[in-house]
Amino acid sequence: MSLDSGIVLVTGGSRGIGAATAALLAEQGDRVVIVDIAPEKPEGLTATLWPEPFDVASEDRVSNGIAAIEAAHGPITGLVNAAGVFGKMHPVERIRMDNWDRELDIDLRGTFMVARAVGVRMAQRKHGAIVNVASVAGMTSGPIHAYAAAKAGVIRLTQTLAGSWGRSGVRVNAVSPGFTRTVALEAGIASGALNADNLTRSTAMGRLVEPIEVARAIVWLLGPHSSGVTGINIPVDAGFLAGLAWDAYGGLPGPETAAP
Ligand SMILES: NC(=O)c1ccc[n+]([C@@H]2O[C@H](COP(=O)([O-])OP(=O)(O)OC[C@H]3O[C@@H](n4cnc5c(N)ncnc54)[C@H](O)[C@@H]3O)[C@@H](O)[C@H]2O)c1
Repeated sequence: MSLDSGIVLVTGGSRGIGAATAALLAEQGDRVVIVDIAPEKPEGLTATLWPEPFDVASEDRVSNGIAAIEAAHGPITGLVNAAGVFGKMHPVERIRMDNWDRELDIDLRGTFMVARAVGVRMAQRKHGAIVNVASVAGMTSGPIHAYAAAKAGVIRLTQTLAGSWGRSGVRVNAVSPGFTRTVALEAGIASGALNADNLTRSTAMGRLVEPIEVARAIVWLLGPHSSGVTGINIPVDAGFLAGLAWDAYGGLPGPETAAP
């Protein structure tokens, strides 16, 4: 795929879903620049690493950084907003407002600031595609209040930006991963905060999502095969949303109950 000789910028590209997306884009011949608050090039990645720490929650870093990246590497024609932090699980009465602010600042405000800085430039050039990484947490209820609110915000923001720039040739879409096997998720399991069996029990497919599966949806939304699509949110969740309510009816059937 070619994004018309521009570059694709991937935030949070040093790890996880961002890194998998950068690798897939680079593999298919796109020129990719990754930025991260902790800049590090994943092993074997042929994308360009922006060497300075890029904090999506810092207004100055974002506006100066986007200008500097375009000056160095050319126009951004594709943007993947994959930088993010996980939500802390706390009972409502114990939520610390510094944690609340951090999650909203990075996951919602940061997504908006990068999308705006890049999208305004794309709209002036009448060309571009943006994909925001939201979460099924933004579509459901769970004990991650700030994170769920931030991700619901990202899904709605995706539509407001799609409405703003649709006639200027800029498409804006979202993907909502389910529980995806990244270092961040593995760390949550290792620390005991998350339980691998609980994470997969409610999914129709009975498993976690792999980062490459989210990356494939992102790459589709960035590329020409989705040219008529804007303002949508694609869950990539191994059937988490489809399986969620089944516990109320006794649980999802196992493979042995399927018709022969
Ligand atoms: N892994 C999952 O199960 C899952 C599920 C749903 C949604 N998501 C979302 O996917 C996105 C990527 O998550 P992941 O699992 O790949 O996590 P990850 O921790 O593996 O990768 C996130 C990357 O973002 C970077 N980052 C964090 N804060 C930043 C900031 N302020 N500025 C710039 N970069 C920053 C990190 O350094 C890291 O490289 C996040 O938005 C996350 O909320 C993940």
